[in-house]
Amino acid sequence: MTLLLLPLSFPLFFLAYILYQKLRFKLPPGPRPWPIVGNLYDVKPVRFRCYAEWAQQYGPIISVWFGSTLNVVISNSELAKEVLKEKDQQMADRHRSRSAAKFSREGQDLIWADYGPHYVKVRKVCTLELFSPKRLEALRPIREDEVTAMVESIFKDCTHPDKIGKSLLVKSYLGAVAFNNITRLAFGKRFVNSEGVIDEQGKEFKAIVANGLKLGGSLAMAEHIPWLRWFFPLEEEAFAKHGERRDRLTRAIMEEHTAARLKTGGTKQHFVDALLTLQKQYDLSDDTVIGLLWDMITAGMDTTAISVEWAMAELIKNPRVQEKAQQELDTVIGYERVLIEPDFSNLPYLQSVAKEALRLHPPTPLMLPHKANTNVKVGGYDIPKGSNVHVNVWAVARDPPHGKTRWSLDLSGSLKRMWI
Ligand code: HEM
Repeated sequence: MTLLLLPLSFPLFFLAYILYQKLRFKLPPGPRPWPIVGNLYDVKPVRFRCYAEWAQQYGPIISVWFGSTLNVVISNSELAKEVLKEKDQQMADRHRSRSAAKFSREGQDLIWADYGPHYVKVRKVCTLELFSPKRLEALRPIREDEVTAMVESIFKDCTHPDKIGKSLLVKSYLGAVAFNNITRLAFGKRFVNSEGVIDEQGKEFKAIVANGLKLGGSLAMAEHIPWLRWFFPLEEEAFAKHGERRDRLTRAIMEEHTAARLKTGGTKQHFVDALLTLQKQYDLSDDTVIGLLWDMITAGMDTTAISVEWAMAELIKNPRVQEKAQQELDTVIGYERVLIEPDFSNLPYLQSVAKEALRLHPPTPLMLPHKANTNVKVGGYDIPKGSNVHVNVWAVARDPPHGKTRWSLDLSGSLKRMWI
């Protein structure tokens, strides 16, 4: 009899929990949650569009339940400022899924770290050391070199007799430039030679990235419903193997850099050199150094490729904008040389194109989830400790500043309105 009652106890427990949260706190409005699953089955793809639609119905701050986890979604700039600026420290923890917890060794990196002394220290390393204007300038030749290599490879492919008149997959060139750029910045390595052939270390690197994505993508439902985790245990062995493989490759690269430093007596500017030489000064564990290097890879590769791909797509859809950008390049750069980074300040139209593409198509539309480390009030509503907080920057960027007329969601319309 007790066993028969067991399945009933889960929905009852869930309902009691939601009721308790609702009575104790003034939670933001939102779609009605179902027992056990909450709103998991109400969320339609694409998630940020679905949240933006709900924001039209319920307002700029909404509650969405994933199982028994409360997610608060913010959709206007005033509330985004409250979350990310005014009350930032109260909502700067991270929700780590079981796989994110494994990958980051419980937040020993930066991306998945909770707010606290470790986070403050690692942010300081990034701001003062890795992304200092001096280092970024020292690494400029890598970025310019990679972009030039990409343009040359596009030219070569366009003019190849077999390919003349055929379409090109821009995404593959952007993926390659982002990959080479970030592996060179972080690891000081170009795994791919000028013929496009990838070496053994590069193959291993790509395999680790692919395996990480596969492992990270599994177990989604069990993440949100704690008792389901009994039935879907984490593949401990697969995660352990993945971690060992990643560490082995990273340590091998770190050792190569240490050996080169000892041999030449000079320190290069790549992130791996910076972190190894600063390791003692900032008291960084090996896990943190490895975690930071992989943070840069995961955070800096797809984001940049996706941004440029969208900008190119918008330019193709808006020939007049493309023409104006081209005119500006012809006037400022001319035909005798290639563009270099210091030219950007003389290319305001190109900068607007980039900003507008990022506004319309942010590659991280819901940012990374923040987590409340205490009970906090936002927009007059309670956000209980432990809730996830998402800022829908896709919706915020399409929300008119200070309540003026809504920008058109028709992308070509909005581009035309802004510049033509
Ligand atoms: C268009 C390009 C990029 C976009 C749109 C983007 C967007 C973001 C967003 C939304 C966050 C989360 C911020 C938050 O939770 O408050 C983030 C965090 C982060 N990004 Fe990027 N990113 C880009 C490029 C890069 C690149 C190139 C790198 C490194 C080389 C990078 C490294 C990081 C790191 C380390 C964090 C964690 C920071 C923290 O938790 O304090 N990102 N990025």
